[in-house]
Order: sequence, then C-alpha cells, then structure tokens
Amino acid sequence: MAKAPAQKKDDKQIIRIFDTTLRDGEQAPGNSMNIEEKLRLARHLQKMNVDVIEAGFPIASDGDFEAVKKIAQLIKGPEIAGLCRSSEKDIDRAWEALKYAGEKGRIHTFIATSDIHMKYKLQMEPAKVLASAVKAVKRAAGYTPNVEFSCEDAVRTRREFLAEVVEAVIDAGATTVNIPDTVGYTIPSEYYDIIRYLKLNVPNIEKAIISVHCHNDLGLSVANSIAAIQAGARQVECTINGIGERAGNCSLEEFVMILRTRKDILPFACNVATELLTPASRLLTTVTGIGVQPNKAVVGANAFAHEAGIHQHGMLMEKTTYEIMTPESVGLSTNALVLGKHSGRHAFSKRLIELGFELDDEKLNHAFERFKTLADLKKEVFDEDLEAIAAEESRVEDRYKLDHITVTCGSFAVATATVQMEINGIAVRTAELGDGPVDATLKAIKKLTKSKAKLLQYNVGSITGGTDAQGEVTVRVSEGDHNVVGKGASTDIIEASAKAYIHALNRLNFKQKRLNASV
Ligand code: KIV
Ligand code: ZN
Repeated sequence: MAKAPAQKKDDKQIIRIFDTTLRDGEQAPGNSMNIEEKLRLARHLQKMNVDVIEAGFPIASDGDFEAVKKIAQLIKGPEIAGLCRSSEKDIDRAWEALKYAGEKGRIHTFIATSDIHMKYKLQMEPAKVLASAVKAVKRAAGYTPNVEFSCEDAVRTRREFLAEVVEAVIDAGATTVNIPDTVGYTIPSEYYDIIRYLKLNVPNIEKAIISVHCHNDLGLSVANSIAAIQAGARQVECTINGIGERAGNCSLEEFVMILRTRKDILPFACNVATELLTPASRLLTTVTGIGVQPNKAVVGANAFAHEAGIHQHGMLMEKTTYEIMTPESVGLSTNALVLGKHSGRHAFSKRLIELGFELDDEKLNHAFERFKTLADLKKEVFDEDLEAIAAEESRVEDRYKLDHITVTCGSFAVATATVQMEINGIAVRTAELGDGPVDATLKAIKKLTKSKAKLLQYNVGSITGGTDAQGEVTVRVSEGDHNVVGKGASTDIIEASAKAYIHALNRLNFKQKRLNASV
C-alpha cells in the first residue's frame, strides 16, 4: 500500500519529550538510584535531546534534593524539573535545588482533583483543592515563569471541575498543564475526548502547553499518549524502558519510534536522537540491574531478531518485508565486535563515553585493566561486556567490596568458600561450607556483612555467546520493606555470584540510608 506523503510540521506539531525516568521511574520497586547514577543517566538524556528531565522530588529526601541540585548545576540544554506537592514547604525546597538551572529550572507542582482522591486521600473539599492549586502555582511563579501544574488522577476527575482547575492555574501562572492518567485507567478514545474537552472548554488553554502523563496498568500508556497528541497535547511524559510506579509509565522509546515510523499518518515530530535509544535502555538496565523482557518493543533483545525461515527469506530479498524500522535507527549495534586486546585506553574510554559511562581517571584505569584481562580470556569483547565492567567500576557509595574469593568443590568434596571483603575500608575474611560453591560463597558474605537479607531469586545467564562469555548473575534480595536487584559479571560464575550478592547488599544499604535521611 502506498504511503501518504509526510506532512510538513510547524512548531505547533513539535511534541516536547518530558523524561521522568529519574522521578516516576525511580519510584518503581528496585529502581532507586544514587546521585552518580542519576547524573550518568541525565547526561545521556541530555545527549538524546529530551526537552525536559524531571530529576527527582527534592523534598522526598536529602539524596533526592542533592541529585536534583547536581543535575540542575551540571546539565545544560534540557529544562530540569523537580516535583513538589502543592505546599509552600515543598515548593520552596524544590526551587532551592532547581535555581541552579536558572531559566531552565521548572517547578512541577501537583494536587489530586478526582472526587475519590479529594475525599479519601486529601480529605479536602473541591473548593479548597482549587484554592491550594492556585496558591501553589502563584508561589512557584514567584520563583520562575516555568511552572507546570498536574491535576493528579485527572482522568477520573469530573470534567467541569477539571476545566475549572486548569483555567484557574493557567491564570495563576502555569505555563504547562498536565492531565495525568495516574492509575492507568483510561482508553485512547476517552483520553482523546478529555483533551478535546479541555481545548474547547478552557478559555485560556492556548496560553499553556497541555501535557500528558500515562501509566501502564492496562497496557495502554503509549496508545493513550498518541491519542492525546492527536487531540492537541504537546508534551508527553515518559520514561526509558517504560519504568515507573506499578506497571510503569509511557515508554519513551516506543512513543518516539511511533512518531518516527508513522510520520505518514502522525504529523508530529520530536527532537530526540533515536540512535541513542538502545544505549539509553542498556544504561538504565546496568544502573538498576533490571532488564527488559526479550520481546519488549524497540529495545528488547528480540525486537529485531527474525527467527522463522519464511521471515528470514523475506528479509534477504527485501528488508522492509518484515522490518518497519531499522536496528541502526534505534542505535542497535547488533553485537558488533567493538574492541580487542590491542585496543588502547583512548579507544576504550571513547567507547565507554558513547555507552554513557564517564569514569574518573582512577576508575577508568581500573576498568581498562579489567578490559585487558577480559580481552586475554575472551576472543571477542562486545559492548555488553564493556557495559558490565563500566557499571561495576562506576558504582560509588559502596559499603561492601569483594577482595578475593577461593572455592573448593567437587562431586566428593564439601563445598567451601573463603571470602575476603572490604567493609567500610577494613579487610575482613571468613570461610563457610555450603550445599554447593554458590551457597558456600553467599553464606560467607552473609556472615561477614551480618546481613539479614533474604535471597528471593538467583539467575545466571551469559552476557554474550560462546563458552568464554562472561557470566552474568542477577539476584533479588529483600529485607523488611525493601526489595532490590543486584548484578555481577565475570568469566567465573562464582565470582559473578559474589559480586551480584554484594551489589544487592550495597543497594539495600543505600536504600536504608536514604530512608533514614528522608523527611
Ligand atoms: O501519575 C501521576 O499522576 C504523577 C503526577 C505527580 C504527575 O506522577
Ligand atoms: Zn506518575
């Protein structure tokens, strides 16, 4: 079927991409990030050209405040947003962190407007909610003209009231009004109607940009975001890999690739460099330790794999028979060999930067030594290998470090692990017996760290193909209300297991520290 010619876009058809990986994304279980990790992702988002980076919720904890402040200080180009409730204390704290971004700092304030939230959560009458929203926006506008207001649970809000709030906050100074589907409840046609309703019933609506923020509880977040821009929304809030509260948020890579692939029927564009989408997805995965499912659209391992013979035949004859977008357009390097044992430090460092890792000299030297050792052990070194090394080397704030490990095991021997670690800079050592080498190793680590964490899951896989591939171990551990994922890679699977377990314990420790510091 012939495609219609792409339509010409003016500024009104540019969709602003508001990335909330570092705020809503980070709220998802197991996805918490420290300041360095957030900064690393923010640098990549900057290179990707997103329009707005929501860096955190400054009043939530000192760590969040520092992360927003650092990103506001160091990231140039995108606007930097910080979330705050509609209270003076929240707004003041948000601006304290955001002011370093100058005119690019955006205060994002919100209050719930649906009957169910107002009655049970806020226990406030609608008139009081309206007054709070206006007061909050006025206070924020006293700091900056760049104010976004969100009507939390907008989709379940009575339309007349929603229109009233939107009109009032625009009058008070909001330049972006966000209409979130907080609980992922709507469907495309309904969401389209809500946005149209606001366009037709809010007299001052043209003075603000309409933003949408969709959750994925029913798997419709991306479809709903597309319907919203067709109805007139011009900012879409989304996250890398679609991470976020519960089932997640609108996936940035899916939304952006829909715009690019279907420009024949969607007369919109955005500024995102799509070639950086796969590296962004991988960077997030290495930071959080949580991978995407293989069949995930755009960035899943199978997204460009053609298994069936009939498909492969078609692909050989003409790629477009089964390929609607190219792997290159999303930055997939299809396991290209990138570096070998003769590669120098400069090439190594350059490739790490392209993958989103900027290490200081000491860490870079250490990572380079590991790369050389790996290149001796392994015939071919791939991007995934480099990412695993860089992810481990770039970790900071680690309380526990693995020094050495020796294991004896066999069909007749009782598995014994001797582990030496550094805890808060002090070397400690112990030995334990176990059912097998992994069990003995984890027991020894548990004893040294005095951890009470429970091991919920243990998975082992290989980073690339071949018997010389690095093994990658992923563990999930929990303690109290905290549940975290840890990853470790090595050509020795026992060492990978120890690293993954220690990574998880460090993350737990970080979470506990953060909770203690929070308000
Ligand atoms: O889902 C939601 O409603 C939010 C708002 C705070 C924007 O995350
Ligand atoms: Zn949300």
